[in-house]
Amino acid sequence: MKKGCNRYFALACSALFGLYLSNAAFAADVAKLVEPCFSCHGKNGNSADPDVPNIASYSEDYLTKTLKRYQDKERPCIETEIRSGSKKGTKTDMCKIAAALSEDDIDQIGGFFVAQTFERTPQAFDAGLAEKGKSIHNKRCYTCHSEGGSEPSDHAGILAGQKMAYLRQQIKFFREGKRPMNKKMKPKLEATDDSEIEAVINYYGSFK
Ligand code: HEC
Ligand code: HEC
Repeated sequence: MKKGCNRYFALACSALFGLYLSNAAFAADVAKLVEPCFSCHGKNGNSADPDVPNIASYSEDYLTKTLKRYQDKERPCIETEIRSGSKKGTKTDMCKIAAALSEDDIDQIGGFFVAQTFERTPQAFDAGLAEKGKSIHNKRCYTCHSEGGSEPSDHAGILAGQKMAYLRQQIKFFREGKRPMNKKMKPKLEATDDSEIEAVINYYGSFK
């Protein structure tokens, strides 16, 4: 009999032990699923590279929806390289990566990253532009990107402390119609000119 169990509790104990085993198996599965993500997005989803977004703390809703969008090639499939580990230098893209995942894999990955802590990126920004960007954000963006875009439950990614180069590229995709956009975000982005966009990006970059 397992340690700590006596014959009265044997049934409950073995049920608990079974639960422990299935949890351990789950943890091992998740580790195998997220390890490849770390090789670009950094350990637990905080990346060191300006073109790779941090995904730690992302809501399950946003993360799973986004991976399905890459599966359907609704977002641009940008060729990129694995940044670290044994496959370092291998070319791939987010659409190929998502295509290899089952629906259950995607759910498990979503459950993992939501539990991680988002580390804001230390990056150079222009303080004057950030100030201007803050007022634009508070006028046009805050209803869906609350607290400077730092609230995972908005299900819209994380903007505060996100990589500025990544944000610049994604806003360009939205404006060029290459990435699907929330219907109500479209007019807000259209009302924002190039210099205002740069200001808003500096505002997000200013979060420490
Ligand atoms: C080869 C490097 C690489 C690997 C491996 C990789 N990613 Fe990415 N990922 C990127 C890059 C670069 C971007 C940003 C550009 C783009 O959209 O492709 C990105 C974008 C994303 C986004 C969009 C973020 C947002 O704010 O909308 C999510 C979500 C994501 N990856 C999740 C994952 C998950 C989960 C894994 C592991 C299963 C993974 N990635 C593996 C490089 C990688
Ligand atoms: C009506 C709600 C709404 C408004 C207003 C809005 N957004 Fe968004 N935004 C969203 C949603 C929802 C998403 C997630 C889209 C998706 O499913 O990929 C998003 C995504 C984004 C992203 C991509 C995040 C990522 O991780 O890739 C950026 C950047 C962004 N918004 C910037 C802005 C800016 C700048 C403004 C103001 C000018 C703005 N948004 C106004 C709803 C909104």
